[in-house]
Amino acid sequence: MTMRRLVQTADETRALGAALGRSAAPGDVLWLHGELGAGKTEMTKGIAAGLDCREAVSSPSFALIHEYLTCRLPLYHVDLYRLEGAAVLDLGLEDYLEGLGVTVVEWGERLPADFFTDGIDVTLTFVDDDDARRITLAPRGPAGTRWLEECHE
Ligand SMILES: Nc1ncnc2c1ncn2[C@@H]1O[C@H](COP(=O)(O)OP(=O)(O)OP(=O)(O)O)[C@@H](O)[C@H]1O
Ligand SMILES: [Mg+2]
Repeated sequence: MTMRRLVQTADETRALGAALGRSAAPGDVLWLHGELGAGKTEMTKGIAAGLDCREAVSSPSFALIHEYLTCRLPLYHVDLYRLEGAAVLDLGLEDYLEGLGVTVVEWGERLPADFFTDGIDVTLTFVDDDDARRITLAPRGPAGTRWLEECHE
């Protein structure tokens, strides 16, 4: 089951993220794909809101991983943009992916596709020059399927 949305504003992207945050279960993983500025971090802000996080989410580009621990479930926000080649394999990402929090990965395509075979792949693409984005959500495995089925805006 693939879900497709056409959103017109950053608020709408965050609202979709919030719906995912509300329906997230321990161990869920979201793989975010899209060009620079497509809205991956905006969507992560929505997920944090849907998880009732009290901290503000910022871009983790420099830290690689931000942990938000004031939420309904721990939220791990990972950004692999700056990593190349084998460095992504040495991060210890498995500990997050197999843990009981919710892991959101920007630029997950830096990892081999079979590194982790569950979660939801979310792709954001620009539409024209304005704020519109096409958003596609596709489960990678059973946990992703459950998450998407229970996600209601
Ligand atoms: N529909 C939309 N959805 C998301 N963001 C939007 C939308 N329309 C405009 N924006 C704006 O686009 C920018 C998206 O930035 P964001 O940091 O989320 O991108 P990103 O995909 O995480 O980029 P990067 O690869 O650099 O991390 C924000 O400034 C946001 O306000
Ligand atoms: Mg980002």
